[in-house]
Amino acid sequence: MPGNHTAIMPTYGRLPVTFSHGQGAVLYDVDGHAYLDGVSGIAVTNLGHNHPRVTAAVAGQAARLVHTSNLFHIELQESVASILSDATGMENMFFCNSGTEASEAAIKLARRFGHQKGIERPQIIVLEGAFHGRTLGALSATGNAKIRAGFGPLLDGFLRVPANDLNAIHGLGTQLHDVVAIMVEPIQGEGGIRPLDLDYLNGIRTLCSNRDWLLIFDEVQTGNGRCGSIYLCEQLGIDPDVLLTAKGLGNGLPIGVCMARGVAAQQLGPGDHGSTYGGNPLCCAAALAVLTTLKEDNLLEQAETLRASLLAGLEHTLQDPSLVADIRGRGLMIGIQPNVATDQIVQRGLDRRLLLNIAGGDTIRVLPPLVMSEEQAAELGAGIAGILNDIAAQEAA
Ligand SMILES: Cc1ncc(COP(=O)(O)O)c(C=O)c1O
Repeated sequence: MPGNHTAIMPTYGRLPVTFSHGQGAVLYDVDGHAYLDGVSGIAVTNLGHNHPRVTAAVAGQAARLVHTSNLFHIELQESVASILSDATGMENMFFCNSGTEASEAAIKLARRFGHQKGIERPQIIVLEGAFHGRTLGALSATGNAKIRAGFGPLLDGFLRVPANDLNAIHGLGTQLHDVVAIMVEPIQGEGGIRPLDLDYLNGIRTLCSNRDWLLIFDEVQTGNGRCGSIYLCEQLGIDPDVLLTAKGLGNGLPIGVCMARGVAAQQLGPGDHGSTYGGNPLCCAAALAVLTTLKEDNLLEQAETLRASLLAGLEHTLQDPSLVADIRGRGLMIGIQPNVATDQIVQRGLDRRLLLNIAGGDTIRVLPPLVMSEEQAAELGAGIAGILNDIAAQEAA
């Protein structure tokens, strides 16, 4: 029966709307209603829906060749790798299908690095509030205890410390002898759009260099133009040893990458890791179209311009500035932490035909497509303010 999803395992609490098509920053439901997209499929459709270059690349490639396996050279994979390498300074990369798989590749790579150095039980430092995925390795690295609960035994080999606290790392004491890597998201996404302090990031970079640890940046959510640069590490001026991405790279086609440089690039050889689909011609055609469009259409600059329009729309419509406790993030990765309850915000967004999301329990996560117009961005900001005004009025009544 249409709309009755009883055969689907209920791992997601689904909203009561089904989309049939999309164009740019707008999604249309099966009844023809238009919704302004403030989530981009959770930071995936950074170029919006039905982007002409991505659509043409995917359709053209589907008609030529979809899949061969990694037993053969894949020209499109090599082209994507070469663009990523030029953009990031990373020397080589492993292609997979998702962010969680990119995390898994990095965990294996870091453990191998430890074993090569004679460390039998390698430890990776990870942060409270972090999210790296839901497969067992990535889940074990994830900071949110609620997400980990009920799936033990999880992997050991992770040392969890509070974010933005260098002393907490020094406080690990004797365990530090077995550390091989620190894995962080430069802005914690699922955790509520919480940026790590630049001083802290510089501090862990220095610590990793001095101690011969790998610095792993998880840019699954912050990457691919979302924060105003291809990867946020470039803006921050920090060179990780391992850089992970996925989400926006394929604009909806499943692709993830674990990139490495220096000693990290020398850890995995033939037979050490693999993926049947990883980096297949179809997904790489999408990624190539995404990377070239991000560059040629100046979409990276757009992220800051649109952020300003959105926040101006918010500010002008908000009846009381104290309704917003904090605004965080960079570019079009925006966290708006309200001073009102967040439990009705997504539904009230739907009522106004705006797609919104809550992250970290207390923060509106706004991740619009980079192709949104300034008017649409302002409308989205004003819509969010309208929701907060309404909730505040209801709470006051
Ligand atoms: C920072 C980060 N890492 C990893 C993941 C997992 O990615 P995926 O859902 O593609 O497996 C996510 C997903 O939200 C993420 O935000």
